[in-house]
Amino acid sequence: TGMFTYDPGFMSTASCESAITYIDGDKGELLYRGYPIEQLATNCDFLETCHLLLYGELPNQEQKNSFTKLVTNHTMVNEQMQFFLRGFRRDAHPMAIMTGLVGALSAFYHDSTDINNPKHREIAAIRLIAKMPTLVAMAYKYTIGQPYMYPKNELSYAGNFLHMMFATPCEPYKVSPVLERALDRIFILHADHEQNASTSTVRLCGSSGTNPFAAIAAGVACLWGPAHGGANEAALNMLYDIQKAGGVDKIGEFIKQVKDKNSNVKLMGFGHRVYKNYDPRAKLMQETCREVLGELGLENDPLFKLAMALEKIALEDEYFVSRKLYPNVDFYSGIVQRAIGIPVPLFTAIFALARTVGWIAQLNEMIGDPEYKIGRPRQLFEGSPKRDVQPIAKR
Ligand code: CMC
Repeated sequence: TGMFTYDPGFMSTASCESAITYIDGDKGELLYRGYPIEQLATNCDFLETCHLLLYGELPNQEQKNSFTKLVTNHTMVNEQMQFFLRGFRRDAHPMAIMTGLVGALSAFYHDSTDINNPKHREIAAIRLIAKMPTLVAMAYKYTIGQPYMYPKNELSYAGNFLHMMFATPCEPYKVSPVLERALDRIFILHADHEQNASTSTVRLCGSSGTNPFAAIAAGVACLWGPAHGGANEAALNMLYDIQKAGGVDKIGEFIKQVKDKNSNVKLMGFGHRVYKNYDPRAKLMQETCREVLGELGLENDPLFKLAMALEKIALEDEYFVSRKLYPNVDFYSGIVQRAIGIPVPLFTAIFALARTVGWIAQLNEMIGDPEYKIGRPRQLFEGSPKRDVQPIAKR
C-alpha cells in the first residue's frame, strides 16, 4: 500500500534509541558507554565490563567487590537442571542444549519472572551472568560423559569457567594466567554490539512482556546461525577444510570458489553489516592469538599461519577490497579458543555466554524507556486479493 517504508534486513532503519554501544563502521571503532574497546580489553576485566554495560559506569574497587560477590552468589544452578539436561542426546549440539537450558531457567526462578518489574529484571540479570558459564560447562561435560564440576567462587569469572570445563573430581585444572586472561578478553570483546540480530531478537521478544529468561533464550537461538555467532565455528571448520585440502597452497582455489556467485561458499569470519573497515575486535583477537600460541609454545601453529595467509590474500583481492570486506571478530577467536582446549562446537555457546550481559543491558534499556511499545513490524502485502473459498470438489 506504500504506507510503510520497505527496508529488508533493516539496512537503514533504527529500531531504537540506545546509549550503550557505539560503532563507527567506516573507522572501525567500537565503544561501550563511550570507552574504546581496546582500553576495556587491556585495562578492565569482564565483570567490570558487565557493570559498565548494565549500570552505565565502570565500578570503583568497592563497587567491583560487591558486584563480584553478587554474581558469585548465583553461580550454581538449581540441582533439577541436571535432570532436564539428561533428556538431551549426548551428541546434541551445545547451542541446541543452551537454547533449552536458558529457556528452562524461567521455570526455576519465580522471583524474577516479571520483565516489567525492575527488581525482577535486576535479579534475572545477575542470575544469567552468573549461571551462563555453569550451563555451558554442564552442556560440555554432559556431551563428553564427565561429572559436572560445581563452580568455585574464589576463582575469577574466566578462571571458574575453565575450572568447570576442564577439571574433574580426580584432577584439578591448573589455570594458566595467560589463558585465563585470553578467555576473559574473548568475553569482553563479545559482550555487546548494539542492535545485531540476536540483540534485536531479545528486544522484540522482551517487548511482549515475556519472562526475561525466555527473552534471552530467544537471543541464544538467533545467535546460533552461521551468519551471526555461528561464524566462529564455521570459520574454524573452513580453516580445517583448507588445511586438509593442502593448506596455504590451496587458498587461491578456495578464494576462487568464494568469488563464484553460484558456489554459495563464503569466507567465514569476513564481512560485516556495519564495519566497512577492519573490525577492531579482530585486531585484538589476533593479538590475543599470538599471546596464547606463544604461551603454549605453538608459535608455528599451522592453522594460525593459514588464517594470516588467507587474510593477506583476501585483503589484496579486488573482490574483497571493492566490497570492503575485512576480518571480523570470529576470524581469529576460534583459533584462540581451540588453543585453550575448547572444542569447536562449543565456540558459539561461549559467544552466547559473553553476549548475555549485552542482551540484558539492551532489554533493560528498552523496558526502562517510558515510551517502549511492543515491537510490531508492518509489511507490504503482495499476495492474492480477496477471493471466495470454493467447495473442495471444485478446487
Ligand atoms: N565472503 C564472501 N562474500 C561476502 C562475504 C563473505 N564472508 N560477506 C559479504 N560478501 C559479499 C556478498 O556476497 C555481497 O556481494 P554482492 O554485492 O556481489 O552481492 C557483498 O559482499 C555485501 O554483503 P551482504 O551479504 O549484502 O552484507 P550483509 O550486511 O547482508 O551481511 C554478513 C553481513 C556478516 C552476514 C556477511 O558478511 C557474511 O555472511 N559473512 C560471513 C559470516 C560471518 O563471518 N559472520 C559473522 C559476523 S560478525 C559476528 C557476529 O555478528 O556474530
